[in-house]
Amino acid sequence: MIQVLRTPAEFKAWRKNQKGSVGFVPTMGALHSGHEELMKNARRENDVVVLSIFVNPTQFNDPKDFEKYPLTWDQDLKTAVNNKVDAIFYPRYPDMYPDEYRYKVSENSYSKLLDGAHRPGHFDGVLSVVMKLFNIVSPDKAYFGEKDFQQLSLIKGMVDAFFMHVQIVPVATVRESDGLAKSSRNLLLTKEHREMAPLIYKTITTAKSAEEAAKVLSTNGFEVDYVTDIDGRRFVAARLGAVRLIDNVQI
Ligand code: PAF
Repeated sequence: MIQVLRTPAEFKAWRKNQKGSVGFVPTMGALHSGHEELMKNARRENDVVVLSIFVNPTQFNDPKDFEKYPLTWDQDLKTAVNNKVDAIFYPRYPDMYPDEYRYKVSENSYSKLLDGAHRPGHFDGVLSVVMKLFNIVSPDKAYFGEKDFQQLSLIKGMVDAFFMHVQIVPVATVRESDGLAKSSRNLLLTKEHREMAPLIYKTITTAKSAEEAAKVLSTNGFEVDYVTDIDGRRFVAARLGAVRLIDNVQI
C-alpha cells in the first residue's frame, strides 16, 4: 500500500525501515506524463520510489501565480499508485519552513540569468526547498526533467558544491503530439492560447537565431521574456495571457 507521510519526522521514521536504493521524484503536484516519465525512470532504477508533492511558496516571485497553481491531489494520488510509487511525502508549509525562510541556499551567477533575471528569488526558493527535501528523503538518486534545464543545472551545481550524497538524473522533456512541452501550467491556458502554444517549440527549433525566434513569437501574440542561446542550448520564456511557458532545446 502506498504511504502518505505528512511531516519530516513521520517521513524519516518510515525511511529508516527502507532497504535498498531510494529514487526520489520531487514535484509540486498537478502530475502529468512528464512527471510519470520521472517516476518510471525512478521505478526502473531503484528498490524504493518516493514522490514529494509540495507547492513551494518561496519559489513563486508572483503571489498570484502561487495562488492559482493547480491543486489536483485526488488525481495525483491515482497517478502515483499507477506508477508504483512506494511513498508520497506531502508536507505543509510550517513543517518545511520552521525557520520562516530565514535560512536559504543561493547561487550567485547562473541563477541570475534567463529565468532568474525575470523571477527574482525564484532559484533561491528552488534550491532551498530541494536541499530541505534531500535532507529529509535521503535519496540515492533524484530525477529532474530537462524542461527546467536551468533548474536541473543549478541543482546539480548545488549537489557538487555541498558534497551531497545524491546522484542527479536528468530526464528528457516529454512533449504533446504538437510539440508543446508538458507542464502543469498548460492546464491554465485558454482554448485559444492552447492552440497557439506549440509555436514556441516550432519556433525555437527552426529559427536561425534567438533574435529571429523572439521576433516570430512577438509577432504572433506572445509576450516574450527572453529567447537566449547559451552553451549550445536555446532557452525561451514567453507569456500567453497570464500563463508563462518555458522551454529549451539543444541547437
Ligand atoms: O520542478 C518543480 O516542480 C519544482 O521546482 C521542485 C523541483 C519540485 C521544487 O519545488
